[in-house]
Amino acid sequence: MDVPALRSALLGWFAAQRRELPWRVLGADGRRDPYRVWVSEVILQQTQVTRGQVYFGRFLDAFPSVQALALASQEAVLKAWEGCGYYARARNLHRAAQQVVQGGLPSTYDGWRALPGVGPYTAAAIASLAHGEARAVLDGNVRRVLARLHAVSQPPQRWAQAAADALLDPARPGDWNEAVMDLGATICLPANPKCSVCPLASQCSALASGNPAQYPAPKRRAAVREIQGVALLIGDGQRAYLERREGTLLGKLWGLPLEEVGAGESEAAALKRLEGRLGARCVQRLGTAAHSMTHRQLSVTLYAAQADLPLTRIAQRPLSRLDHKLLALQGASRLQPALLSVPL
Ligand code: ADE
Ligand code: SF4
Repeated sequence: MDVPALRSALLGWFAAQRRELPWRVLGADGRRDPYRVWVSEVILQQTQVTRGQVYFGRFLDAFPSVQALALASQEAVLKAWEGCGYYARARNLHRAAQQVVQGGLPSTYDGWRALPGVGPYTAAAIASLAHGEARAVLDGNVRRVLARLHAVSQPPQRWAQAAADALLDPARPGDWNEAVMDLGATICLPANPKCSVCPLASQCSALASGNPAQYPAPKRRAAVREIQGVALLIGDGQRAYLERREGTLLGKLWGLPLEEVGAGESEAAALKRLEGRLGARCVQRLGTAAHSMTHRQLSVTLYAAQADLPLTRIAQRPLSRLDHKLLALQGASRLQPALLSVPL
């Protein structure tokens, strides 16, 4: 493998084809703002670039600087994160902002790595993109590109990191990292790589094998757990009784009161338990919403109910996507508006 030729081919391609993205703009000093890079990399860990741009714009509007983020309430941070999922990321971002606001943002890989929620990927991305430190990022796209270049079916994590380190252009680590990520996102696609327009084609072992898409072999997926639940709408689409969720599943977000249907338990029994806990009386079944998370598939049935409980304006609270889906059921149902506004 001719590494210098590979680097200049990919960097040349990137100079012409790079995607214009809001976190890639340079500041007046010709550098990238580490805060913007940080926020964008945290968002992009589990979100596609297209949707990530929307969340990024909203988050930066709410918190244009690390000072603004540090001073915000946790509730405001979760509200700005709404819909992004993986809310622990937002809580860590907030905590880390509070930790560094006094002394300023870190400027090295090790400094970033010490912050809550900043793993090897995020630290390498920020250190290379914002500070020019020679650190190679390894995410799913990069792993796929490397597995194909070298025709390795099941790349172990350590091999992949070593391969990424070996190719990284130490003179331009930020451009290099983003070039590999962009190549993986736009050319070296999972199912149908566009090898005919790929700048690395002449050096790619997977292409030479005749079937590049077979690399890397699909990972075995962890089993998805199916969870059933019941939830109550006490109120209407604008105002409802909301609870703050505890635990890791949607923890600290607000949502409609919900009970999991236990193993071997019937939905009716879980509903009784929920009614009993709130002193509520079910009026009507409104429908079922499905929501997938990485290792869980939720299906929650929503019931309209009456109870003497305080209602909150829904728009004020950070809600999970599951709750937005549940609230949409209410609008789609044929429930009489008069019934929803029965005085409680
Ligand atoms: N995915 C994650 N970070 C990225 C970046 N900086 N550029 C392009 N895609 C990305
Ligand atoms: Fe990926 Fe094809 Fe380029 Fe190889 S030649 S890196 S398989 S797009």
